[in-house]
Amino acid sequence: TEQMGADLEKVLLTQEQIWERLDELAEQIWADYAGKDLLLVGVLKGAVLVMADLMRALPGSVPMDWMAISSYGSGTKSSGVVRILKDLDTDITDKHVLIVEDIVDSGLTLSWIKANLASRRAASVEVCTLLRKPDAAKVEVDVKYVGFDIPNEFVVGYGLDYAEQYRNLRCVGTLAPHVYS
Ligand code: PRP
Ligand code: MN
Ligand code: MG
Repeated sequence: TEQMGADLEKVLLTQEQIWERLDELAEQIWADYAGKDLLLVGVLKGAVLVMADLMRALPGSVPMDWMAISSYGSGTKSSGVVRILKDLDTDITDKHVLIVEDIVDSGLTLSWIKANLASRRAASVEVCTLLRKPDAAKVEVDVKYVGFDIPNEFVVGYGLDYAEQYRNLRCVGTLAPHVYS
């Protein structure tokens, strides 16, 4: 982690800030979905750490499933091209689906997933994301639970990658310019 830390320009969110916020969101989610058949759907790979910490912050048992979708490839800009790499294992008919994401950037990935899941006759489809970049939005997506709104800068860590690296950083931060060259 010392080596990864040297590649950071600045830390936007510490592990403690992330956990504190996820605890608050978990409390809201638990109250909102009381008595409902809730299914958490994580979007691989970026959402793995949010899912792990959010679901452990929930006070009761809840199932999860995963979709793998890629829109970025190895670059830093969204291509808008959405591919399903792995579909759900679960039939979500009549389930209350909560999509778990690490970040809503352009919104293209999420608007596509939301529409896709809604078409499978889920009882409801909502979104929980740790991060959102309001200034990067290309499409409006209704996101019920947002951890933090952040500036339109490329961020890594806590699941977010640059060319598949830095997902295992405990914090969220921006990369130093030397990393890109
Ligand atoms: C990233 C991120 C979101 C999506 C957000 O995933 O994890 O899923 O991009 O971008 P958008 O709002 O502009 O669509 P990515 O496609 O990089 O795959 P990954 O999760 O495996 O890193
Ligand atoms: Mn992702
Ligand atoms: Mg990525």
